Amino acid sequence: MLSIRNLQSGYGRIQALHGIDVDVAEGEIITLIGANGAGKTTLLMTICGKPRASQGEIVFEGEEITRLPTFQIARRGIAHAPEGRRIFPRMTVRENLQMGAAVTPPQYFTDDLDRVLTLFPRLRERLDQRGGTLSGGEQQMLAIGRALMGRPRLLMLDEPSLGLAPLVVRQIFQIIREINREQKVTVFLVEQNAFHALKLAHRAYVMVNGRIAMSGTGEQLLADPAVRAAYLEGGHPAAEETEEAR
Ligand SMILES: Nc1ncnc2c1ncn2[C@@H]1O[C@H](COP(=O)(O)OP(=O)(O)OP(=O)(O)O)[C@@H](O)[C@H]1O
Ligand SMILES: [Mg+2]
Repeated sequence: MLSIRNLQSGYGRIQALHGIDVDVAEGEIITLIGANGAGKTTLLMTICGKPRASQGEIVFEGEEITRLPTFQIARRGIAHAPEGRRIFPRMTVRENLQMGAAVTPPQYFTDDLDRVLTLFPRLRERLDQRGGTLSGGEQQMLAIGRALMGRPRLLMLDEPSLGLAPLVVRQIFQIIREINREQKVTVFLVEQNAFHALKLAHRAYVMVNGRIAMSGTGEQLLADPAVRAAYLEGGHPAAEETEEAR
């Protein structure tokens, strides 16, 4: 579905991606993990056309999109829930969801809204509340819901679990699984929360300093000693793992 070859990109003279190759097949959940500053956000943003790739190509469903304007990329069926949520704080929940529907024909709106609110019942209770006054978890739900309003075939999520309590993190990951299984949306997930993300993923990539250092199934990477040492040990993930194993 998405095929990225030798992708290079950056900010002015600073090169952040040094030749990335990534493939996402239809129906998959692909996870990308990596340390702070590795280039994960830059990769998702370059797929959306901002910043522009300086080299390489991005092909989505057989069409090269590397040089398309961002709104055209969204129209092709790629939605992006950016890092830090970036919802519109002064707009209500309903208005935020309307913004997400800007790329779809208006007659879909009512059905799509209902579908998103069924996925996130909390948002249904808060339709008229301003986005900025939602809790962190609710804002993340809104960010994902807004992305879904565009009827994406590929949903890209940048650190959806950031700053959320463990229980809410689990809910969010459960919902991502549901979106993938039931709504048949392909998911490209960037995460620091490597344990949960690798458990969820069909396949995963590890990014180090703007390059892909490793790839494999989620299970392979979870079992890999280097991955464990760098991304799983010495934090709460190990504790959660024991908890989950019970
Ligand atoms: N707008 C920008 N202007 C200049 N440099 C930037 C900009 N955004 C990111 N960078 C640089 O690009 C590199 C990759 O950053 P990026 O945000 O893609 O990393 P990341 O893997 O998403 O990190 P994190 O896990 O902290 O979100 C970093 O060195 C960062 O400082
Ligand atoms: Mg980032």
